[in-house]
Amino acid sequence: DEAIELAELAKRMGIKANEMIVKLMGLGVMATVNQTIDYDTASLVAAEFDFEVEKASFEEDALLNVVPEEEDTGTLEACPPVVTIMGHVDHGKTSLLDVIRESKITSGEAGGITQHIGAYNVETPNGGRITFLDTPGHAAFTAMRSRGAQITDIVILVVAADDGVMPQTVEAINHAKAAGVPVVVAVNKMDKVGADPDRIMRELSEHDLLAEDWGGNVIFVKVSAKTGKGIDELLEMVLLQAEVLELRANADRKATGYVVESRLDIGRGAVATVLVKQGTLRDGDPVVCGLHSGHIRAMIDDSGSRVESAGPSTPVEIVGLAGVPDAGDEFVAVASDKDAKQIAGHRMQKQRAKELAKKSRANLQKMFENL
Ligand code: GTP
Ligand code: MG
Repeated sequence: DEAIELAELAKRMGIKANEMIVKLMGLGVMATVNQTIDYDTASLVAAEFDFEVEKASFEEDALLNVVPEEEDTGTLEACPPVVTIMGHVDHGKTSLLDVIRESKITSGEAGGITQHIGAYNVETPNGGRITFLDTPGHAAFTAMRSRGAQITDIVILVVAADDGVMPQTVEAINHAKAAGVPVVVAVNKMDKVGADPDRIMRELSEHDLLAEDWGGNVIFVKVSAKTGKGIDELLEMVLLQAEVLELRANADRKATGYVVESRLDIGRGAVATVLVKQGTLRDGDPVVCGLHSGHIRAMIDDSGSRVESAGPSTPVEIVGLAGVPDAGDEFVAVASDKDAKQIAGHRMQKQRAKELAKKSRANLQKMFENL
């Protein structure tokens, strides 16, 4: 994994890059000035010049100091499930997200302006809490998954009762299956003439989603995003599903979690909505987030208020990163700004080395093609 740019190595040894390239050729290695060479090759060629390469191994894990979940001896407490809504075009994903957000957040705040931060946490009538990712659709889900971020605990599959199972419904089912995430079915548009929930149950049973009423274990809820009917029941059923999953987290440790959304704000710099997975994120915490470091200068919750801390499954917008991370990047609170900078610096360097290696491979290929 250790690598160094050829030009850099030559410089440190006080020899010309060309001399090194020639020496490498002698060793059977074709290299260009910009190319990164691995530790073993560097040692070989350095030995030719009577130099010794020392492996300055970088203990990123030690600095990050993240306790693996299975070794966490802290108190684990139930935490809200994180839910993504998926379904076919026009079946009502956005309408459902809107009706849930409006009835559960905006109405409760006198004159409150609900800020869009990419995720929000709602309280159900029975006092339970659920976190919704405010990005309906498969793109976000798959993008996160491809980055190795499994942040969704439950998928709500929306199917319009007057339309039935469609291609993207099946796609959503396959995504949820591949991720091993349980599905709660929301049979939407029940207010419409021609709504046929039995047909939805039948069609979904052909995709291994068998309703409880029919002896299966999948929860189906009939809803209307238009009238609001069934929404409270849907939320309670999501909580029921969450109970089965026994979602637990330790709030009493350094925070880790994932980036849900990010952007560059003219006034505030890099802004990211993150979802805390473990621990508690606090104002002032030094953090590493993807390739970037920083420390939390401000945290804003889903209702637009500044907060001092955010526990497990809480979405917050953070300000204070030196650069804009990508959705799906992991963040980790670390011990000091210095550690954060060192880790991010190392990651950035690795990233550059990777890009350079790619470029020089492409250049070499071009060279051969032109021969
Ligand atoms: P895309 O983002 O395009 O994939 O669609 P979507 O799944 O987000 O659907 P959206 O919420 O935009 O709803 C599509 C249309 O269906 C809109 O005209 C909604 O007003 C309507 N609609 C959504 N839910 C209901 C419902 O429960 N009843 C009725 N009658 N109309 C609904
Ligand atoms: Mg939509």
